[in-house]
Amino acid sequence: MSSSPPRFFRDSSPAGAPGRKRSQFTYRHLSQMASYSNTCPLRVVAHLDLDAFYAQCEMVRLGTPPDKPLAVQQWQGLIAINYPARSFGIGRHCTVTEAKKLCPDLISQHVATWREGDDKWAYRPDAAEHVVTDKVSLDPYRLESRRIMAVIKAHLPPSLQKVEKASIDEVFMDLSAQCHSILLERYPELANPPPYDDPTEQLPMPSSVSALDWQADTLVDLDDEHASELTDPDWDDVAILIGSEIVRDVRAAVKNELRYTCSAGIARNKLLSKLGSAYKKPNQQTVVRGRAIGKFLSGFKFTKIRNLGGKLGEEVTRAFNTEEVGDLLSVPVEQLKLKLGDDTGRWVFNTIRGIDNSEVNSRTQIKSMLSAKSFRPSINTLEQATKWLRIFAADIFSRLVEEGGVLENKRRPRTMNLHFRHGTQTRSRQGPIPSGRPLDEEALFDLAKAIFGQIVSLESQVWPCSNISLSVGGFEDGITGNMGIDAFLLRGDEAHAMRAGRPQATVGDATVGDEERPAEKRRRIDGGIQRFFARKETSHGVSHGVSNGLGSDHAAAPGKEGDMLGSSVVSESRGEAYRHHAHHEAPITADVCSRCNVSLESPEALQNHQDWHFAKDLQDAEERVNSTLASRETAAAAAAAAAPSSRTSAAAPRKRPGRPKKTERGQSKLNFG
Ligand code: CTP
Ligand code: CA
Ligand code: CA
Repeated sequence: MSSSPPRFFRDSSPAGAPGRKRSQFTYRHLSQMASYSNTCPLRVVAHLDLDAFYAQCEMVRLGTPPDKPLAVQQWQGLIAINYPARSFGIGRHCTVTEAKKLCPDLISQHVATWREGDDKWAYRPDAAEHVVTDKVSLDPYRLESRRIMAVIKAHLPPSLQKVEKASIDEVFMDLSAQCHSILLERYPELANPPPYDDPTEQLPMPSSVSALDWQADTLVDLDDEHASELTDPDWDDVAILIGSEIVRDVRAAVKNELRYTCSAGIARNKLLSKLGSAYKKPNQQTVVRGRAIGKFLSGFKFTKIRNLGGKLGEEVTRAFNTEEVGDLLSVPVEQLKLKLGDDTGRWVFNTIRGIDNSEVNSRTQIKSMLSAKSFRPSINTLEQATKWLRIFAADIFSRLVEEGGVLENKRRPRTMNLHFRHGTQTRSRQGPIPSGRPLDEEALFDLAKAIFGQIVSLESQVWPCSNISLSVGGFEDGITGNMGIDAFLLRGDEAHAMRAGRPQATVGDATVGDEERPAEKRRRIDGGIQRFFARKETSHGVSHGVSNGLGSDHAAAPGKEGDMLGSSVVSESRGEAYRHHAHHEAPITADVCSRCNVSLESPEALQNHQDWHFAKDLQDAEERVNSTLASRETAAAAAAAAAPSSRTSAAAPRKRPGRPKKTERGQSKLNFG
């Protein structure tokens, strides 16, 4: 009989023929590794996160010795601080002035900027004083990110790699297939067919390993129930050890070839590997073995677990009167479902047990790219606005090129969206990007001007304008015609605009289409984080805009947000606004966010910031639902496993037929260029 992974994945009792200890794992589990089954208990997933990333980029660029304190400055604030500087107590909350007080030798390097009237980003010594005319460019970091990604990929076998760029400085790697292949090389006995040709037969125990050499890795202690036993390593330990070796090699390659250090977590899934990479920093790797999961997680407050912070975390804390993972473990799944709803309850139940079957997605998933600028003081003329539109077009185009495929016409966005803010009102217009002409900077600029022209001609009050943002979305894969659901839905919008009598190349007033859609469809079309903003604006009494593309753009969370929600390629404009609000030397008002204590400089900025929280909560909720769907089958197994004597079949279906391949929202939208 097969055995499903029990609660913490290991049943310590020997199985198989009497007298001969057999592995906990079966031949089927072994073969599942080769096919990247995300329910395989021998799965090996690694997460790699660059240490103080932007700071390292500057150190590499400037040739700064590794022990010199350096921070990356944006206007008067700091957005990345290297570890030597952190030892002085400098953090992202510091202003440059405060940081210099703490460490007079601090190298404070301002980020590169685009400048009004200039067509290239550049490092400018006077950038900090040019918040009015400059706009931050994170291109240098994206470029480094791409180089790092290339090195990582080059050090994994081409046919056995599954790498997901999760943000500008993070990757997930599903190492299962590669570990499987190394396992078979090292332990040829595993290549034998199972007894009676029965894949549910248990494997022999690993013969030639009694002690595994974990080298300098941080090895999370085993769960207490296992620590007291002298259990021999099983195949999950061997597999994860191989994964750890691979990761060590990859990290060494990144260090040797590009001079970047990173930290890594190696575990059986994304959830645990991500917690692992943050466990010890900088330049370390942490292995979370199957038998260590319980202990590892019990060391965290559940509010520290990805997606369990924020509103949901608060809700769970309130409902069960605790923040401790340990306390929540004793709550039966039914009760979680009762208090939190079926999907969320189940998701929480799984998550605190370290169960996460979400897939490592190798496909780049850009949803949209955004370039934006908040104006202080506001701008008042079409001429000024046009200069910025040129910068936005150049910015977006350079990212499109960088993403690859656009020049060859392989992948291109199909819609452009322009938002502008006048007083407390934000208006937006959307237009299809004509497919008949090559997509270049000029084409983007022309379309942006056309859309802006429409807004100006239709609105009675445009000036002064305090913010403009330009985004492109609805990415289409020109080669395969393989369109994601979003592209499909946007195409629906376009079709709708055409049905409503508007030629494709003209600017669509999305609201008209929106209102004509039946409610259910509208919910789906407008679903997702980005749509929230449109609705929000409507509630302010402003009626333009459906999908503004902002949704995937909110990478830079206020405060320490390691998760880099949203696409790295589209992250900075929003982040710029927030950090600017947080650090701007303008008088700080009482507009403080009750959720994260960041001070915003105006009620409008606070509203904007709260929108971000709201949108992130929505996105988190979506992601949870996705994870829940992915793990529904195993949840039952896990629940059963929680009862010690029960056994269920481990042959959970790998994929639910007909369900669109879902990616983890917050992760997959970020792409590694
Ligand atoms: N970042 C940002 N704003 C945030 C969070 C992150 O601009 N709110 C940027 C940082 O500048 C950072 C990069 O995104 O360099 C990656 O973020 P993260 O991994 O959270 O931090 P690191 O600076 O890389 O530091 P660590 O060593 O802790 O990973
Ligand atoms: Ca990092
Ligand atoms: Ca990170």
